[in-house]
Amino acid sequence: MASPSGSTFMSKPTLATLFLLLLVQINAISGCYTSIFQFGDSLADTGNLLFSRNDEHSYMRNYPYGETYFKRPTGRCSDGRLVIDFIAQAMGIPLLPPYLGHSNQDFKHGVNFAVVGATALDLAFFEQRQVHVYTNYSLGVQLEWFKQLLPSLCASPSGCQDMLRKSLFLVGEIGGNDYNDPFLQGKSVQELRAIVPHVIDTISSTITALIDEGAVTLMVPGNLPIGCSPSYLTVLESKNKDDYDANGCLSWLNEFSQFHNQLLQSELNRLREAHPHATIIFADYYNVAMELYQFPNQLGFTGRALTACCGGGGTYNYNVSAKCGDQGFTACIDPSLYVNWDGVHLTERAYSHIATGILNRPFTTPRINFGCISSNPQNDDHPYS
Ligand SMILES: *[C@@H]1O[C@H](CO)[C@@H](O)[C@H](O)[C@H]1NC(C)=O
Ligand SMILES: *[C@@H]1O[C@H](CO)[C@@H](O)[C@H](O)[C@H]1NC(C)=O
Repeated sequence: MASPSGSTFMSKPTLATLFLLLLVQINAISGCYTSIFQFGDSLADTGNLLFSRNDEHSYMRNYPYGETYFKRPTGRCSDGRLVIDFIAQAMGIPLLPPYLGHSNQDFKHGVNFAVVGATALDLAFFEQRQVHVYTNYSLGVQLEWFKQLLPSLCASPSGCQDMLRKSLFLVGEIGGNDYNDPFLQGKSVQELRAIVPHVIDTISSTITALIDEGAVTLMVPGNLPIGCSPSYLTVLESKNKDDYDANGCLSWLNEFSQFHNQLLQSELNRLREAHPHATIIFADYYNVAMELYQFPNQLGFTGRALTACCGGGGTYNYNVSAKCGDQGFTACIDPSLYVNWDGVHLTERAYSHIATGILNRPFTTPRINFGCISSNPQNDDHPYS
């Protein structure tokens, strides 16, 4: 037993030390994410395309894909970096390696399961409805990849929980292809609205499964304004001026994107109540991307906002018979002046605008607390904060 004076003497440093330890621990848990796990489609694929047996998108393996940043095609559907690349760089971790064609040694800071063409719903759902989809690597398949891989990424169950606590899970954007493929194959907007709840259910059950595995911070992006996409503007071109908004986008398609986003946000509210210990963040891709179409000149996109940089001609430089990287296309000289890269995907500079909106501006709910993030993505061009 210590003497009263001894215990008084000891208590100060002990308390101070405890307090310091506590601070350090809180920082380590809530501040710094050391890994990212990404699920999704071509908006986030950092190279799975190159390793997937999928010849339908093979033109995306060609120059000028990648010309701006990597100086070679990397499997990314852009001229350079994607939102996920800007997030990784802001977190100070290496660019995410694609799951296919890589080894566990490369996955120290996470892994990217996103695949070009991926749908939220499984292949069977579309086969039943006679819709052709471009890959069978659905969200469910990507979740299975994660579950199979996880034990090899951490030595013990408690080590896994610790690693997952310090990981950021990006679930999406996903669902865009669940709509693209049927829309572009002639399904009606009524038929499409009926599948939105199925897409949201699939995203929701994936989030629940990840939380059950130990995920605590998840970011879930909504859909982009697809009515501003050169592919849709071309294929679903209308003679009726009333179909277009003031920016030249197809209003009814943007309303469809917002319908998806509303259902997604209500579902995320439900999930937050069911899992109060988890942080479930909605990333508002729609509204941050809308700025690109509303204020292209102010943001430095002086090429036409609705025209693809790289494509095979036509009003929006999108031609299904002459896609970027395929035969008979032309590419603009300076992609940084364009919002759209290839008719479907955005340029690096447009993705940088979205990443800045997510990281530094109020386009996430709740606001994301990265703690350790030091640098801003480049092109910090946002006069509308
Ligand atoms: C997807 O399709 C490929 C090619 O047909 C096949 O080899 C692969 O096993 C399929 N994967 C899944 C998860 O169904
Ligand atoms: C689309 O590409 C095809 C094949 O190269 C070409 O024949 C056609 O003229 C192009 N359409 C437009 C509108 O440029």
